[in-house]
Amino acid sequence: MKRIRVRQHVNPLSKQHLVSITLPDWSTVYQNPKQPLHLDLGCARGKFILQMAKSNPTINFLGVEIREVLVKEALQARDDLQLTNLHYLSGNINYSVAELLFSLPLEVLHWISVQFPDPWFKNKHIKRRMLQPELIKALVKYLSDDGMFFIQSDVFEVAKEMSRYLQDNCDLQLLNQDVNPFPVATERELGVLRKGEPVYRATFGKQF
Ligand SMILES: C[S@@+](CC[C@H](N)C(=O)[O-])C[C@H]1O[C@@H](n2cnc3c(N)ncnc32)[C@H](O)[C@@H]1O
Repeated sequence: MKRIRVRQHVNPLSKQHLVSITLPDWSTVYQNPKQPLHLDLGCARGKFILQMAKSNPTINFLGVEIREVLVKEALQARDDLQLTNLHYLSGNINYSVAELLFSLPLEVLHWISVQFPDPWFKNKHIKRRMLQPELIKALVKYLSDDGMFFIQSDVFEVAKEMSRYLQDNCDLQLLNQDVNPFPVATERELGVLRKGEPVYRATFGKQF
C-alpha cells in the first residue's frame, strides 16, 4: 500500500481537536464485542495492534489516533486482512476518554498501552503531552482487576513523567520495569532499537 505523508505533530489542544470522537456500535465492529480488549493510545499507523490482532483472535484491539489520515490507512489495512477483532478510532483521547470508555461493554478493558507518545520538549508545550493524570484516572476506573497498563518511551524525561503519574494513581502498582510484555514492537520502537538507543519501559497493574 502507498505510504501517506502526514504532518508529524498535531497540537491536541487546538480548537479543531477539541471535539468528541464519533463512537461506533461495538456489536457492528467486533465479531465478539465481549472479548478482552487491548486499547493502544496514540497508535499512529496502527501496525502494532494489527500484528497483535492477527495472532490473538480471542482479544479485541482498539487504536486511538488523533491524525485522521493515519486512521483511514489503518482501517483499510484491517479490511484488506478481514480482521474482525481490530478497530481504529480517529480523535483526541484526552477529550473523549470518558465517552469512549462508557460506550464499551462492561469489564472488557484488560490492556492499555501508551508507546512513544509525542514528547513535546518545550516547557510551554508540556501540557500537550497525552498521558496526563486525569486521563490515567479515567482509564484505570475501567481497567479490569487483572488488567495491565504499559508505557514506553525513548525519551527518559517523558518515561519518568509517565511512570510518576501512574505511580501517583493510588489504584495502580508497578509490576516491572524495562520489560516489554508484548511480542510485537511498534514502528517507533523498531526505529529506536535499530539505532541501538535505549527504551524506558514500565508495566503497572491494579492495586489491591
Ligand atoms: C510518536 S507517535 C508513536 C506512535 C506509536 N505508538 C509507535 O510507538 O510507533 C505518537 C502518536 O500519538 C498521536 N497522538 C498524540 N496526541 C494524541 C491524542 N491526544 N489522542 C490521540 N492520539 C494522539 C500522534 O498523532 C502520534 O501518531
